[in-house]
Amino acid sequence: MGRTFFLLVAAVLVAYYVYVPLPGDIEEPWKLMLETTRLKVMMGLISFAEFLGINHSMDTIQLLMRFQEVPATSDENVTVTDTTFNSVPVRIYVPKRKTESLRRGLFFIHGGGWCLGSAALLIYDLLARQAAERLDAVVVSTNYGLAPKYHFPRQFEDVYGALQWFLKEDILERYGVDPRRVGVSGDSAGGNLAAAVTQQLIQDPDVKTKVKVQALVYPALQALDMNLPSYQEGSDFPILTPSTMIRFWSEYFTTDRTLEKAMHLNQHVPMESSHLFQFVNWSSLLPERYTEGHLYKSPTPGSSELSRKYPGFLDVKACPLLANDNTLSHLPPTYIITCQYDVLRDDGIMYVRRLQNAGVQVTHHHIENGFHGAFTLHGFKIAYRLQNQYFSWLMENL
Ligand SMILES: *[C@@H]1O[C@H](CO)[C@@H](O)[C@H](O)[C@H]1NC(C)=O
Ligand SMILES: *[C@@H]1O[C@H](CO)[C@@H](O)[C@H](O)[C@H]1NC(C)=O
Ligand SMILES: *[C@@H]1O[C@H](CO)[C@@H](O)[C@H](O)[C@H]1NC(C)=O
Repeated sequence: MGRTFFLLVAAVLVAYYVYVPLPGDIEEPWKLMLETTRLKVMMGLISFAEFLGINHSMDTIQLLMRFQEVPATSDENVTVTDTTFNSVPVRIYVPKRKTESLRRGLFFIHGGGWCLGSAALLIYDLLARQAAERLDAVVVSTNYGLAPKYHFPRQFEDVYGALQWFLKEDILERYGVDPRRVGVSGDSAGGNLAAAVTQQLIQDPDVKTKVKVQALVYPALQALDMNLPSYQEGSDFPILTPSTMIRFWSEYFTTDRTLEKAMHLNQHVPMESSHLFQFVNWSSLLPERYTEGHLYKSPTPGSSELSRKYPGFLDVKACPLLANDNTLSHLPPTYIITCQYDVLRDDGIMYVRRLQNAGVQVTHHHIENGFHGAFTLHGFKIAYRLQNQYFSWLMENL
């Protein structure tokens, strides 16, 4: 009797952990459920450790992720080296095949919620190799200081410093890169940093070489309104939940959990900054298809104490959607991937609309059965498809 009961409880627990209700049109659902389970078990263990006071949870995940890193190893087609640009560690991929002409350059920024990941993660190493080989490009895959050890603006500054270094005439020359064919790209938090440094670059009189394109893969672009339709719908989306996203956003600025709590209530922006809501107003910026069934309510103004302590969350360098139309109008041709089942879906769609309104040439690929993380889910059909689209756009436009 005792044993049967125990087995029953165990079975229910396993089912609870493995079964995640997924939207019907997602392919390879069982494979994805196992992936999600792996994340859930990891998060569960980490929360438990945090509860016991063992460590800050992001530190623990960073430790676990280190096992998924690979050293810089050249193969028959690409030479891979680790070095530093402006004291920022970067990994560089140079195609081995001979060429008469200068090459494309691609500056890539990994994702991981400003807290996790590195250029050495297997998934990013494979992606950068592919990019070098398929685009015949010199790929610079940059690292940056991560939370909780470092907060905004450290991440932004590391990435911008490495990009400035790469764009110097003698550095481009050393790697055989054509200064007229350099692109900036990143996924998720890396997409956020890519959008932010590209905005900074077009306004920087000290940088002569400008980038030709930016390619943003499900980027995070604003931390003002945490109640967009994609956040409201997102609790059933795979891989990234709205509360994890809010945790990442708040960790970007501080380890003080009061910001996270205020963000959950959507009460973190003070009254005197409410003019910024026009830049993230989903009621006017999203197509009707995404607003249907959702009533627009502008976020409740909160006290100004949080923004005095952590002004970063109102800074355009953290939230590229806060740029004015004049800044946006100078941006280079842009490629954006958004996914239907992604908390960050509406950030990307609003940026597409704002860039188009400012006259920027935008290619928007919306993946109907896509979800956050799909671009780098090695071994999944959807990752293969997304990467193919991404590379063919870069092939034509970079
Ligand atoms: C806590 O985190 C640090 C990294 O910040 C790590 O070096 C240490 O091993 C961790 N301790 C435990 C018990 O996980
Ligand atoms: C190198 O390139 C060749 C030709 O494109 C390809 O068949 C091979 O798989 C590549 N090698 C690696 C290690 O990717
Ligand atoms: C958002 O847009 C809607 C519809 O265009 C408008 O009624 C509302 O006043 C706007 N709110 C803010 C805070 O900009």
